[in-house]
Amino acid sequence: AVRRRDVGGLLRDRLPREVHDLLQTAGELSERLGYSAYVVGGFVRDLLLGIDNLDVDFVVEGDGIAFARALAKERAGRVKVHERFGTAVVLLPDGFKVDVATARTEYYEYPTALPTVEQSSIKKDLYRRDFTINTLAVRLNPRAFGQLIDFYGGQRDLKERLIRVLHSLSFVEDPTRVFRAIRFELRFDFHLSKETLALIKGAVKMELFHRLSGQRLLDELRYLFSERTPRHAVRRLADLDLLRFIHPTLTWSNRLDRRLSEVEAALEWYKLSCLDRHISGWLVYAMALTEAMPDQAVHEMLERFPFTEAERGAITAARFLTQPVCRALSRRAPLRPSDTVALLAGLADETLVFLLAKNASASAKRHLSLYLTTYRDVKPALTGKSLQALGFRPGPLYRTILERLTTARLDGDVKTEAEERELVKTFSDQGRGRARD
Ligand code: CTP
Repeated sequence: AVRRRDVGGLLRDRLPREVHDLLQTAGELSERLGYSAYVVGGFVRDLLLGIDNLDVDFVVEGDGIAFARALAKERAGRVKVHERFGTAVVLLPDGFKVDVATARTEYYEYPTALPTVEQSSIKKDLYRRDFTINTLAVRLNPRAFGQLIDFYGGQRDLKERLIRVLHSLSFVEDPTRVFRAIRFELRFDFHLSKETLALIKGAVKMELFHRLSGQRLLDELRYLFSERTPRHAVRRLADLDLLRFIHPTLTWSNRLDRRLSEVEAALEWYKLSCLDRHISGWLVYAMALTEAMPDQAVHEMLERFPFTEAERGAITAARFLTQPVCRALSRRAPLRPSDTVALLAGLADETLVFLLAKNASASAKRHLSLYLTTYRDVKPALTGKSLQALGFRPGPLYRTILERLTTARLDGDVKTEAEERELVKTFSDQGRGRARD
């Protein structure tokens, strides 16, 4: 039986005013069009869990695209329509984005039947979803604004902290849901229901994951390793015998687990120390996985999954190209900062953080962290303009001079602009000579 509950107060208290207004507008608009509109899925789940989530997904009983157009018009936004799926994205002027879908109606299944009750289509629509906790919907039409609709026991499972599929074919329909189950389990610290766990084991036995495209599997793994605790995710994948679908040679080991902890610590450090930079943490975890695989397996993995060129390059470097770099970084003999820069320039931050996680030696860690936080930002005070003012003719020589100045800065040979000018003079005869040719 459908459970109803008023969450109007929650909407009012928890949401930013603009978002609350938007939900009301959506409700009024759908009423005017003779439709019913709902906000559904993760937004509602997180509302009840007290977690901020402003990914608004509307489902409309009616013409979702017409609704989206009307909403865009009302709010001076733009709309991107996917005619074939009956879906649209509304882009509001302040950059806010909402997804709109048309509820799948009875019509699809029984071409001659009229939709029986108004709610039958939202009910069907929600039945197509992955887990009970994602099947909650809130009505938006004015007379019922804020009414929570729970057809499948979503509230009960939220309370009992359970991930539960709606029916036994869920993973057959879409094997990526297995990875989603683990993702939600770890994110919310929930458990798989007994039946859901059994169905996952069945899916693993049936090897359903070989059917998945590299793209879909990679997407899921990327999401999974972008959550808070990728190390636990790998452990969970291993427990459920799922690592082999990444590559048959991939197995869990204490060594891998240790490396994952080290990656966790290195990423933690990076996020605190390189505040204005962005890093794809998931990629560093992927590097840790490849370390546990034979060379050939890594090549096969790079074939199977459509990584971007940059990602592929970063993984390849971490796995195959950095041994000499690591050796140099760990040497006893002191490295000048400019030597460190020469060794590390051009490597992706993800690769560098992986090296940081991997290298036990204190000197390697120091060189890597200094490079990431300091060395790579060092620039001379003089610029191309200054060189022009000094009489150098613009050309490839500029680069050489500026590089030599950077090296001198890095190694502490010059500390001020005046000292840079002095240094430039020592190699300026030749340059100025040319400038006057
Ligand atoms: N969904 C599904 N099967 C999938 C992917 C998605 O049934 N393989 C459904 C889920 O029920 C979900 C909705 O589609 O509620 C939207 O998907 P998504 O935005 O990925 O899910 P969220 O629950 O919002 O997850 P997140 O919080 O990670 O964004």
